[in-house]
Amino acid sequence: MSLVRKAVIAGNWKMHMNCAEALAFSQSFRAQVENLPEDRQVVIAPPYLAIPTLSEALSGTPVAIAAQNVHWEEKGAYTGMVSAPMLLEHGVTHAIVGHSEPRKYYSETDEQINMRARTAQHYGLIPILCVGESLDQREAKETERVIHRQVEQGLEGIDSGRLIVAYEPIWAIGTGKTCAAEEANRICGLIRGWVGNPEVIVQYGGSVNPATIDDLMAQPEIDGALVGGASLDPIGFGRIVNYQVPVGAG
Ligand code: 13P
Repeated sequence: MSLVRKAVIAGNWKMHMNCAEALAFSQSFRAQVENLPEDRQVVIAPPYLAIPTLSEALSGTPVAIAAQNVHWEEKGAYTGMVSAPMLLEHGVTHAIVGHSEPRKYYSETDEQINMRARTAQHYGLIPILCVGESLDQREAKETERVIHRQVEQGLEGIDSGRLIVAYEPIWAIGTGKTCAAEEANRICGLIRGWVGNPEVIVQYGGSVNPATIDDLMAQPEIDGALVGGASLDPIGFGRIVNYQVPVGAG
């Protein structure tokens, strides 16, 4: 971890946690961030419906709130969607775009993802652009080509100074198979080069847990994590956000 880049540890709750559960989480998690070191930021992306509850419950803490997606229009006939101004009303500061789940289940394209990222930035939200290869693509040695394309198309017209990129290999998501720290480091370095801004925050995501976080964060090109399942437990996620890197590493 470079001294100039502040680490960002983000929890993506996906379709978990109603308002009551989010409130219970926040009551326990508050204590976990009471002495959070200054070199890092914590973000949580709850389901849309839990955003107002969580945002209020964690106000006054160093935890920022993200949306799990954002529409590219500010309003209109888009049934089921949520816009950037609606998120701003509840104190949201970040928006995940291009996660592999909407890419897969709702056929999101790089062009749509780019529009979402642009709109997010237009409204002052920091996009967290997710990129990553499938197992088939990795085995076919297409990893670099796939991610390069996702970065190039996803970031067209984007200000790289207000951006986070998350490297999430699809085969590592929800499988318990964390990518080896050195390999995640290599890909995160490539991504930073393709973005063309040495200051950009590049996270790793995919089965991050309390046992793997320290090794990942000791890698010089990895500036944070995007955590799914392990972010649902306030104590376990507390250990993750309070990761420890040996002196001299990172
Ligand atoms: P898991 O941490 O559950 O593997 O999920 C990763 C992810 O998709 C975060 O966005």
